[in-house]
Amino acid sequence: MAPTADLAVIGGSGLYALLDGTPHELGTPYGPPSDAVTIAEVAGRRVAFLPRHGSDHRYPPHRIPYRANMWALRSLGVRQVLAPCAVGGLRPELGPGTFVVPDQLIDRTSGRAQTYYDEGAVHVPFADPYCPQGRRALLAAAASRDVTAVDGGTVVVVEGPRFSTRAESRWFASIGGTVVNMTGHPEAVLAREMALCYSSIALITDLDAGVQAGESVTQDEVFRVFAANTERLRDVLLDAVAALPAEQDCACGRALDGITLPFALP
Ligand code: ADE
Repeated sequence: MAPTADLAVIGGSGLYALLDGTPHELGTPYGPPSDAVTIAEVAGRRVAFLPRHGSDHRYPPHRIPYRANMWALRSLGVRQVLAPCAVGGLRPELGPGTFVVPDQLIDRTSGRAQTYYDEGAVHVPFADPYCPQGRRALLAAAASRDVTAVDGGTVVVVEGPRFSTRAESRWFASIGGTVVNMTGHPEAVLAREMALCYSSIALITDLDAGVQAGESVTQDEVFRVFAANTERLRDVLLDAVAALPAEQDCACGRALDGITLPFALP
């Protein structure tokens, strides 16, 4: 029987597994996803887990097969996606270890395949890139675990894989950025293009170059702070999964209403 799942968690840097479950190798028109998708049951719901960078972190942010990943999840029946990630802080008052549940993003990537629709007239609404229902579930789960999570914030997504210069970082803060990362786009828009609910919980692992005098951000620091917070993040994610309503009770699921698609979605 073909594997199925109701919702999915896409793990970022430092979160390469979530649950013991059955791994499934999936194929898509865009090639294979980052890794096998593991499916397990949580609170009566079938949850798929996919490590965004691969379980051995073989894909750097600009080489992640984003289209294959989201397609593979939808092909399982997934309609809601929770997407934790590591981010740099752009505000001095939000230090490492703080969680943010973002409500906006600014795309500063370049050259990434960021749409499924290279033909036809398919223009999805994206004013609010994150699902309100998923955001609520993540914030409530964090509160119930006594994990401080900021409600709202703007993720500036950079191309990477390098970190930003101080001038870039100061500019990101000046245009309204709260945090900066390398993977938030095009994941969010690809989810919307397939009418999936998508929300994120971002862990600040460092203060970005424009906020902090002295040494630049290092990869070491990012992984160390992430590792120190993995347990808390896992607890919040599993609680949010258990609390998420089974139905898509938001506009995400209606993103394609009235649009003629050039091909059928899985
Ligand atoms: N991911 C974690 N910290 C980051 C930073 N400072 N810049 C970009 N991506 C990040």
